[in-house]
Amino acid sequence: MGLAAAALVGQAVDAIDTPALVIDLDAMERNLRSMAAFAAQHRIALRPHAKMHKSAALARMQMAHGAVGVCVQKTSEAEALAAHGVHNLYISNQVVAPAKLQRVVALAQALQAQGGELAIAVDSLEGLRRLAQAADGQATRIRVLIEIDVGQGRCGLPPGKAAVLLADEIARHPALHFGGLQAYHGRAQHLRTLAERRDSIAQVVAHVTATMAALEAAGHAVPLVTGAGSGTFALETASGVYGELQAGSYLFMDRDYAGNAPDPAQPVFEHALFVKSQVISVNADHAVVDAGHKAHAIDSGLPAVHARALDYSNGGDEHGILHGPELPALGDTVWLIPGHCDPTVNLHNHLVGVRGGLHKGTVEQIITVDARGALT
Ligand SMILES: Cc1ncc(COP(=O)(O)O)c(C=O)c1O
Repeated sequence: MGLAAAALVGQAVDAIDTPALVIDLDAMERNLRSMAAFAAQHRIALRPHAKMHKSAALARMQMAHGAVGVCVQKTSEAEALAAHGVHNLYISNQVVAPAKLQRVVALAQALQAQGGELAIAVDSLEGLRRLAQAADGQATRIRVLIEIDVGQGRCGLPPGKAAVLLADEIARHPALHFGGLQAYHGRAQHLRTLAERRDSIAQVVAHVTATMAALEAAGHAVPLVTGAGSGTFALETASGVYGELQAGSYLFMDRDYAGNAPDPAQPVFEHALFVKSQVISVNADHAVVDAGHKAHAIDSGLPAVHARALDYSNGGDEHGILHGPELPALGDTVWLIPGHCDPTVNLHNHLVGVRGGLHKGTVEQIITVDARGALT
């Protein structure tokens, strides 16, 4: 953490220099508790995706509220969180480079020695053999989840009997054991109507069920099905087939997710992640803030302006252009709600945690983005 950031603790929100990524801690903790209560009520495990916040402090907070561990997407992300005290990690993604797999095995051993775990997904026989090559003969037993493509057309084996070959191969390696199925449909998360999401997850569940039947017929019990994100997790839960939820964005709630028609079966989550920006230029019909797409990701669209009737348009990497009936004055603070939380967080070294609201609150905590840039 930089000295300037550390010195903010205890100061009023006004003291936060711009642009800055700010967490409304009260809103975030309400999201945290709502999700934990949902999982507890439905007796389903929660393993939030930490690729969203990339922060060991937030992962530990989620685990202190009942999460069984967290997911990560990359080897280096797992290493960064483990280095800061997160000891139960699952790489919900494919790792095939032999050098990386050696790091995976070394980290799995280190975490096991501390009573923790590093689990991993695979979706090919070749990938599995490479993992086995790194793990065989080592004092470790790595839980391996077979990923199936449940409709996104990204990673994963076709649903059905293709998974049996991999489960057979896992059984041949004492350093590995079969942990069940990775079954996540990313695009389904952002389908706008509940009916669309329901139809999509019904197909997901059919693919999972067919794969489980094939595995069980071949003598492989399926201990767990893991998946789901912040847009659909109530549907996977209601299926009765999933044992673990991987939702991540619920903690911060970006602008894109707010565009989903709500599912009454899910808790309502609040925006907790904001870019604090400042008006640096005012003209007859527009104002300009000091936060462009170096301060927030725009892959899922531009940010919304919080609590003001203003539209944000793209002014480039360092500027945002505001239009609206009541333009802000030079020097004013404007709070932006990023379009997509995950890549926005990856643009910042730390998150400034504010208690008591965005207007009158106080900086309580500086949260380091430990796995910032951990993309390998
Ligand atoms: C494999 C996997 N699981 C879970 C998630 C979490 O989804 P969300 O942040 O939308 O809740 C993601 C996000 O992309 C993912 O790729």
